[in-house]
Amino acid sequence: MGIKKRKGEHIEAVLKKDVEYEKSAGFECVRLLHNALPEIDCSSVELKTTFLGKKATPLMITAITGGFERAVDINKQLAETAEKYGLPLGLGSMRPMLEGAEEKSYLVREHCPSIPLVGNIGIAQLASYPVERVEGLVSKAELDGMAVHLNPLQEVLQPEGDKNFSKALELVEELCEKLSVPVIAKETGAGINKEVALKLKEAGVSWIDVAGAGGTSWSRVEYERGGSPAGFEEWGIPTVTSILMCKGTLPLIGSGGVRSGIDAVKAIALGAEIAGASRPFLLAYDYEKLDEMAGEWVEQMKIAAFLTGCKNYGDLKKIKHAI
Ligand SMILES: Cc1cc2nc3c(=O)[nH]c(=O)nc-3n(C[C@H](O)[C@H](O)[C@H](O)COP(=O)(O)O)c2cc1C
Repeated sequence: MGIKKRKGEHIEAVLKKDVEYEKSAGFECVRLLHNALPEIDCSSVELKTTFLGKKATPLMITAITGGFERAVDINKQLAETAEKYGLPLGLGSMRPMLEGAEEKSYLVREHCPSIPLVGNIGIAQLASYPVERVEGLVSKAELDGMAVHLNPLQEVLQPEGDKNFSKALELVEELCEKLSVPVIAKETGAGINKEVALKLKEAGVSWIDVAGAGGTSWSRVEYERGGSPAGFEEWGIPTVTSILMCKGTLPLIGSGGVRSGIDAVKAIALGAEIAGASRPFLLAYDYEKLDEMAGEWVEQMKIAAFLTGCKNYGDLKKIKHAI
C-alpha cells in the first residue's frame, strides 16, 4: 500500500474509531497537593520554559501527520495554534518527504516562526537513507530537533510493517553523531522503560518522549486496518509508570494519554520537563475548536500551578504529589 493512502487511513481511524486504550495512563491516580493559601496573583503565573533553545509553553503537540493532501491544512492549523500559544510542534513521519512523495505539508515554518519545531523519522528510513538526507529535511523544514520514532508494536502488527529492529540502536547512534540538531527518541504510545532510556542516552540522544500507554493505542489503530495477531490492544507501559522509570536518565517529554492541562502539570510534577499530546489536537482540528482547546489546556495548566502555589515553570518541578 502507498504511504499516502496509509497516512490517510491512520487519520480516518484516529478521528472516527475508538482507538484509545481501555486501561488508563495513570494520571487519575496522581493527586497534586492543593494549596489553600497560594500567596500568588493567578494572573501573574508564567509557565514558559526553554526547549531546544527556544522559549515555549511546556506542552507539546507531538507528532501527528504529514505527507498527503489533507495534512497540508491540518499541519497549517496546528502550526498557527502552536505559534499563538507558544506550544512546541512535532511533525508526523517525514518518510513521504524523504521519498519525494510530498513535502508541502511539512513546510510550516512560515506559520510558526518562533516555536520549537521538531521533525520525525523512523528506524526503517534511517536504515535506507544516509544521515545527509535527514539533514536535508532539517534545513528545508527549518527544524530545531529531529524525533526518531520507536514503534515496534505498531510495525509488528501492521500488514506492511518494518519488523526488523536489529540495527535500531546503532542507526540512532549514527544519527546523533552526525545530525546538526538534537535527536529526540520517542515511542508512539507503548512507553519507554529505564534500560531503553539508558541505552538511548549512551547513543547520544538528547531527549526522550516516553509516549506511554493509556491514550491512543496504535495496536487498535492497526487492528482497524486489518492488522494481526489480536491480543495486543492493551500492551505497553502506562505513561505515569514510564515517566517515573525514566526520570533522571535524560530530559523527558511526558506524553501518551495526556488529556487536559491538569494531566500536563501532573506529568511535569512527576519528572517530565514538558508534557505532550497528539490525538486530542487532531480531534479538535478545525480552527475554532483547536484554538478553544489549546487555550483551555494552557489556562488549566496556569490554574493547576496557582492552586499548588507555583508562580513559574521552575516551581512546577517542586509540586508535592501523591500516587
Ligand atoms: C493520527 C496520528 C498520527 C501519528 N503519527 C505519528 C508519526 O508519524 N510519528 C510518530 O512518532 N508518532 C505518531 N503518532 C503518535 C503520537 O505522536 C503519540 O506518541 C501517541 O499518539 C500517543 O499520544 P496521545 O495519547 O496523546 O495520542 C501519531 C498519532 C496520531 C494520533
